[in-house]
Amino acid sequence: MSDKFVDFLNENLPTSESFHPYYSEALSHVLKAGGKHFRASLLLGVVNAIKPELTDKAMRVALGVELLHTYSLIHDDLPAMDNAPLRRGVETLHVKYDEVTAILVGDALNTHAFFEISRSDLPSDILLKCIEILSFNGGVNGMVLGQALDCYFEGKKLDLKQVEFLHIHKTAKLIAASLQMGAVIASCDENTCSSLYKIGLDLGLAFQIQDDIIDATSNEAEAGKPVHNDDIKNSFINLMGLDGAKNSKEELIRAIIKELEIVPSELRPVIEKLINKYLKG
Ligand code: IPE
Ligand code: IPE
Ligand code: MG
Ligand code: MG
Ligand code: MG
Repeated sequence: MSDKFVDFLNENLPTSESFHPYYSEALSHVLKAGGKHFRASLLLGVVNAIKPELTDKAMRVALGVELLHTYSLIHDDLPAMDNAPLRRGVETLHVKYDEVTAILVGDALNTHAFFEISRSDLPSDILLKCIEILSFNGGVNGMVLGQALDCYFEGKKLDLKQVEFLHIHKTAKLIAASLQMGAVIASCDENTCSSLYKIGLDLGLAFQIQDDIIDATSNEAEAGKPVHNDDIKNSFINLMGLDGAKNSKEELIRAIIKELEIVPSELRPVIEKLINKYLKG
C-alpha cells in the first residue's frame, strides 16, 4: 500500500507552466526525494483496515497531508530556522536554488495540500472535516505554534512540561490528525476517532523523540539530513539525556499498545507495524 501511495504521489506531483526557469522543478524537488511517508501510511492504514474499498479514494487526502508536511520541512530547513543544507538525501531548496524559491515552494505546497483534499472523490462533508482537522492541527495552534516555540526558545531552557507542549504541537498534532482523518474517511464512531487522535499524540511524541535520537546517534548518510543539529534546541536528548529519551519513548510505546486495546482490533497491526518500522532502536 505504501508503494501504491508512492506511485500516486509521483503521478500527482505539483507542476507549473510559465517562463520561470526553475520554479516548476523546485515544486517537486523535495517530494520526489522520498521520505518515510509516515503520516500518509497512518491515514491510509486506518482506511484500509476499516473500509478497504475507500483506500484509493483516500490517496488524495494522504497526498494533502504529505504536501503540508513537506512544506513544513522546507521552511524548517531555511537559514532563518534550522539552516540545513540536506533533506531526504538531496540538497535543500535554498541551497539548490535560492531562499526565495524555498519560501515560495513551501507556501505553494501548503496551499496545494488543501486544493488536493478538496478535489478528492469522497463525500463533501468528509472532505470538509478533513480540511478542518488538517488546518487545525497544522496551522495557528498546531505545527506552526510548535515551530514558533522551537525557534524562539533556542538556547533558552524549557522544563519538561513545556518541552512536551512544544513537541506535541510541532510534530504530534499532525501525526494525530493523520490517524483522525483516516478514521473520519472510514466513518469510524466518535469514540474511535477520539481514541485514535489521543493515540496519535503519544505516537507523535514518540516519533519526535526518535527524531531527536536520530540527530544524536545517526550519521548524515543514514538520516538523509544533517545530524548533531539540535545542540541549542529543547530536544528530549538535551533535557533528559540519551537513555532518558529512550526510556520516555518506550514508555509512550507501552501506553500506545495499551490504548490500542479499546479501538477496533483491525487497527492494532497497522499502528504496531509502523512503530516497529520507525520507532525502534
Ligand atoms: C521529520 O519528519 C520532522 C519531524 C517532524 C520529526 P519525518 O521523519 O517524517 O520526515 P520524512 O518525511 O521521512 O522526510
Ligand atoms: C521539525 O522538527 C518539525 C517540523 C514541524 C518541520 P526538526 O527540526 O527536528 O526536524 P528535522 O530533524 O529537521 O527533520
Ligand atoms: Mg526544526
Ligand atoms: Mg530541522
Ligand atoms: Mg530533528
